[in-house]
Amino acid sequence: MPHLVVVGSSNTDLVVQAPRFPNPGESLTGGVFAQFQGGKGANQAVAAARAGAKVTFVGRVGQDDFGRIALAALGAEGIDTRLTIQDPKLASGVALIVVDAGGENMIVVAMGANDAISREQVDSATEVLSEADAVLTQLEMPIDTVAHLAETVDRVGATLILNPAPAQPIPDSVLPCVDVLTPNLVELETLTHMPVESVEEVERAARSFLKRGVGAVVVTQGREGCMVVTPEEGWWSRALPADARDTVGAGDCFSGNLAVALAEGKSLREAVRFATVAAGISVTRLGAQPSMPHRREIEEVLAEVSL
Ligand code: RIB
Repeated sequence: MPHLVVVGSSNTDLVVQAPRFPNPGESLTGGVFAQFQGGKGANQAVAAARAGAKVTFVGRVGQDDFGRIALAALGAEGIDTRLTIQDPKLASGVALIVVDAGGENMIVVAMGANDAISREQVDSATEVLSEADAVLTQLEMPIDTVAHLAETVDRVGATLILNPAPAQPIPDSVLPCVDVLTPNLVELETLTHMPVESVEEVERAARSFLKRGVGAVVVTQGREGCMVVTPEEGWWSRALPADARDTVGAGDCFSGNLAVALAEGKSLREAVRFATVAAGISVTRLGAQPSMPHRREIEEVLAEVSL
């Protein structure tokens, strides 16, 4: 069982499923409400735990009901949250989400305690980081903390997977510490300021990260699949054909499962296939954390499909 450390955010997702997205200034009726556990970091931690990893989650919640419920949910998945702080002053993170009839989503996050995930918390996790088979993180926390984490992981010699979501400028010092970067198309465009309309443009933008020191880039593109580039090669990987109900957390599912597969020693090609199947299953279900598939389900589909 590989050991994965996930450093990142935890949110409560307040979700309305609506017939379509509202226009600015428009009130739209006909929605259905649900509350789910979310946050990119916590979602990835749950994805990894269900995929079969031993997971330590380093995050920050408030001393409120949302925070207590979030920690209990992670605990119920067998995730170690001893390095997650319950902040006495800040509220837990909340995400307001609209999911349209096609399963696409729009998300606004009130960061709350996630914004206080600190360098000191990273330092408190140094020993765990040095024992990890892989470390997985995102950008839903202060970029200074991400930079400190990247330096620390580099120093202790663990593999680092960075899901650059939500996109915010990444310091140049971080990229050479990243073994695998997993942007979606929007994040790739925002981070590189390069066009990403055609396959050639996507590859050029992805390869610009290799020039800045990243080991490999996997650009996730929803139902289109993903593009993988390394210094030696590049390829397209098809998505699992799926009837998408809710895409919230699909990228987290992909990154969490990719990290587990890499930590198990699978090749990048095999790991992408594993993560593709997991994400394809997750979009058929509602909610972020509830939608993460278990190992057995992923392996059953893997045995049936050729991707
Ligand atoms: O990636 C999906 C997640 O983004 C949601 O669970 C929401 O909390 C936001 O962090």
